Amino acid sequence: MVAILGFSKEQISEAVQAMYASVADDPHQGFHFPVGRPAALAVGYQGKELDGLPPSALDRFVGVGYPFRADVIRPGHTVLDIGSGSGTDTLIASRIVGETGKVWALDITPDMLTRLRATLKEVSIENVETIEADAERIPLPDNSVDVVTSNGVLNLVPDKHKAFAEIFRVLKPEGRVQLADIVISRPVPLGGRSDPKMWAECVVGASVDEDYLGLFSETGFTDVELLGEFDYFAESPSADTRRIAAGLGARSVQVVMRRPAVAKVPTNIERLVSRLHPRRLKMMIGGRGLWGAVAAIVAAVACYGTLAFVGFLSLMGIALALPEGTWAVTIIAAAVLAVVATAFNLPRHRQPWPLLATGLGAILIGYVMFWGYNAITEALGFAILIGGIGLDLYQIYRVECAPARVETPR
Ligand SMILES: C[S@@+](CC[C@H](N)C(=O)[O-])C[C@H]1O[C@@H](n2cnc3c(N)ncnc32)[C@H](O)[C@@H]1O
Repeated sequence: MVAILGFSKEQISEAVQAMYASVADDPHQGFHFPVGRPAALAVGYQGKELDGLPPSALDRFVGVGYPFRADVIRPGHTVLDIGSGSGTDTLIASRIVGETGKVWALDITPDMLTRLRATLKEVSIENVETIEADAERIPLPDNSVDVVTSNGVLNLVPDKHKAFAEIFRVLKPEGRVQLADIVISRPVPLGGRSDPKMWAECVVGASVDEDYLGLFSETGFTDVELLGEFDYFAESPSADTRRIAAGLGARSVQVVMRRPAVAKVPTNIERLVSRLHPRRLKMMIGGRGLWGAVAAIVAAVACYGTLAFVGFLSLMGIALALPEGTWAVTIIAAAVLAVVATAFNLPRHRQPWPLLATGLGAILIGYVMFWGYNAITEALGFAILIGGIGLDLYQIYRVECAPARVETPR
């Protein structure tokens, strides 16, 4: 079930911690993402910013962008680095805020924080404190932080809404957020989030760009500005990661935003209305290739739901004459739409079997509707139609999301 619906929070957390514990342990063992100083230079850091940073931190840099492009941290500020890892961004922020400022380095992976504490001791840095916690529950008081910085972390967090609500809560009014993170252009196909390892590699946990940026205003942030974006995964050493990231349009974005002095947080109804916007619905259903499933459900409900409803009414003593022609046309129209939707998905996986199956299912349903009714043939028609839809979704998942069994080295 988890494999179909996606993930359990615990599985994701375990996979994420295992992945980043191994970065903390040995950053040179080879990962599916760039690591260390070359990675930092590639995502936009200046050499002089990195010079002098302790190798124990910089060697384990695994950020996905350059959040300091926002230039919002000032001397004396209190900064929270969410998902600090081994502390490259924490240490850069610690230099900027100086002795009068403070940096909280928060991370969920104990091994990363153990490294960071050792580094802080080694270079005698006193304006940084570490917090072992989940971004979804930040153990800091309300209105206590001037700037939140985060690099490559929020895509890994299962409940992004909760994490942003927490960021909003701990920020002072007029406080700023500087972020580098991964977004995708189209939603992850059904089942695509079932591999916690792919999640931990920053690919399938990411949100669709529009939803991600929408989340900020839904939380109450204003002045949201996209500072830049680039293809972070192009240089991944893993063929699977490159293929899946390219298919989903995954890329790194750098964003800055503000918590306004007087926050206007949208109500739950306003949030729901914005989520039900036809463009977002279209992306959510069409992007996952689910129009066929929607049409098949409509066909099945129109058929068996109507029969059940009429049967129920007759038990209550209410006789309802079904307009049989309209009823049959509705069912077959929905079944044909399911076939058309499967045809539209064909270029995504190039497998003819789902289309052949839905086509055969629709023919059987049409036959019993218009030529010779037979309950078993009708049920068989629906079973084949729904099976074809399932096969179609599986093929989309297999091509766009499933890691290959044998990894092709670069
Ligand atoms: C891609 S790494 C980035 C590390 C660091 N920001 C850097 O640039 O090197 C992601 C980090 O986020 C942490 N992390 C993942 N999920 C988290 C969560 N829910 N709460 C806090 N930290 C999390 C991981 O342990 C890991 O250290």
